[in-house]
Amino acid sequence: MNEIVLPLPDDFHAHLRQGEPMRGYVKDLVKEFGRAIVMPNTVPPMTSAKAIADYKQQILEAARETAPNFEPLMTFKLNPNYTEQDLKDMMAVGVVAGKYYPAGVTTNSQDGVSDFESVFPVIAMMERLGLVLCVHGEEPGAFCLERESKFIARVECLAQKFPKLKIVFEHLSTAAAVEAVKRLSANVAATITVHHLMMTLDDIVGDALRPHHFCKPLPKLPTDRMALREAAFSGNPKFFLGTDSAPHAKEKKECCCGAAGVYSAPVALPILVQEFERGNALDKLADFVGSFGADFYGIPRTTKTMKLVKEPWTVPENVNGVVPLAAGQILDWKISEV
Ligand code: DOR
Ligand code: ZN
Repeated sequence: MNEIVLPLPDDFHAHLRQGEPMRGYVKDLVKEFGRAIVMPNTVPPMTSAKAIADYKQQILEAARETAPNFEPLMTFKLNPNYTEQDLKDMMAVGVVAGKYYPAGVTTNSQDGVSDFESVFPVIAMMERLGLVLCVHGEEPGAFCLERESKFIARVECLAQKFPKLKIVFEHLSTAAAVEAVKRLSANVAATITVHHLMMTLDDIVGDALRPHHFCKPLPKLPTDRMALREAAFSGNPKFFLGTDSAPHAKEKKECCCGAAGVYSAPVALPILVQEFERGNALDKLADFVGSFGADFYGIPRTTKTMKLVKEPWTVPENVNGVVPLAAGQILDWKISEV
């Protein structure tokens, strides 16, 4: 097979940052995706309808030249202080989900949730209003390789307590979380990133320290990666693409206190085709990138398409000041310009 036509992919988890760098990151994203869930851990954070409406406008402006039909799907950062009117106001400007960051577990999450039960009243409102809850599932203070598995009980608790709430367990990194998502009711689904399909902890610290692979949650054991690959390749609609593409300037990664995040937007689709091909699952890729997420979020499936061709190309070492995933490597598949 030398070419493949896919639905124009949706990214159900992307970081676009703010200010001038955001413009370049948007341009990279819209070359590969027709819609994206835009994460709210900006500086300052997305916590009001006004801020979110402005941010959405800036994203649309940045996308206009490259992809005038790009649709940003907006999110807010969860805290205990929202009223129902706040949530309705945010929905009116395009918010589809709220993001639960446990305090301190990742980039710009110092203001995250420190008291689990304190957000229950807001989550109950989200359930009533049909807003999706996106969860960064890592337990603060736990040992770094156990943060996700220790958080599973909280996701279970939320699923039981709020049976009509749609919950997305974001960027799975463990076999235990894969099993939990399979086991839990239909209102719980999960995103899987490109880099967690490819990497284990060895790719960060196995031979040398590779700061551009450092991300949260940490990629873990080969058995965890295998479980993620099986889930993605299985055609189970609970698992869909959310890249967690998270650009940090090269100098913010190559320093003594490097930021977590892998910049996968410039290479996501070519790598996914390669990985699904290796897993003999190319027939499952269209739903993974174009149907399951839309169905779970309750938005129409895209009617647009994207073509990739088998044509080797070398990933640039630097894209918009960021070192992308697979920098300098030759990939087999390329997005076709036509
Ligand atoms: O590696 C990560 N980077 N994980 C996250 O959860 C956040 C993200 C970021 O914003 O940089
Ligand atoms: Zn993220």
